[in-house]
Amino acid sequence: MIRPLIAGNWKMNGLLASLDIMREMESGLSSLQDKADCLICPPATLLASMAAEKSTSRLKLGGQDCHSESSGAHTGDTAAEMVADAGGSYVIVGHSERRADHGESSEIVATKMKAAFRAGITPIICIGETLDEREGGKTLDVVSDQLAVSIPDEASGTDFVVAYEPVWAIGTGKVATVEQVAEIHDAIRAALENRFGAQGAGTPILYGGSMKPENAAGLLALSNVNGGLIGGASLKAADFLAIYAACVSQL
Ligand code: PGA
Repeated sequence: MIRPLIAGNWKMNGLLASLDIMREMESGLSSLQDKADCLICPPATLLASMAAEKSTSRLKLGGQDCHSESSGAHTGDTAAEMVADAGGSYVIVGHSERRADHGESSEIVATKMKAAFRAGITPIICIGETLDEREGGKTLDVVSDQLAVSIPDEASGTDFVVAYEPVWAIGTGKVATVEQVAEIHDAIRAALENRFGAQGAGTPILYGGSMKPENAAGLLALSNVNGGLIGGASLKAADFLAIYAACVSQL
C-alpha cells in the first residue's frame, strides 16, 4: 500500500508571520492519525526559518523549484542542494506555473529531477493539460508525453512523486470530476508500471487543482489517487488539516 502524501504548495505567498500557520498545522496534526505524510512547500525565503521553528517530524518541508546545477552563476535560482541544506526533503518540479511563466519544457524538468536525486531529496513532478488541450481531446497524449520526457532515466519508480494537475483546475475553483481524475490517474499508473515495472505500482500519484475540504474525500477515495498537491487551501491551517483528516479517515 502506498503511504499517502498531503502536500501544500504555498506558491508566492507567505512572510515570516506565516510561521503561525505552520504552528497551527503542527498542533492540529498531533491529534490526527499518523497514516499519511504531510508536507508544506513554502517560498524559498521561509524554508530555513520554518525548518528551525518546526517542532515535529510529522510535518515535512520542501522547495517549489530547483535549478539543474548545484551552484554557479544563475542569479535568482535555487539549487536542489540549497533546498536540502535549508531543511527541505522534497522539491516540486515542473509546476504548470513554471512551465508557463518560465518556459520550462519537460526536458528542463528532467534535469531538475536529476538535480533533486543528486541532492538526496524527493522530486514531485507536476504534469497536466490546459483547457484547450482537454477540449481538443489531447489530455492523455499531453500527460503521457510530459510523464515520459520529464522523468529522467535515473529514476527508479519509488524515488519520486507524480502530481496530476489539470491546468484549468488550478486556482480556478473548477475541480476535475472524480471520473476525469480516475481516468487520468489510472492512465498514469499504467504508464508508470509500463516503464518501471513493479516499482511503478508504488509511485505516489497526487491530484492537484482546487482540492478543498469539501471535495477532498471523493478524490482521495479513488484507488490511484495517493494524496493531494494543494495550493490555496494549504494557506489556511484548518482547511489543510481537514483535507489531511479526510485522507487518513479513509485508511
Ligand atoms: P490550487 O493549486 O489548489 O490553488 O488549485 C494547486 C497547485 O497549483 O499546486
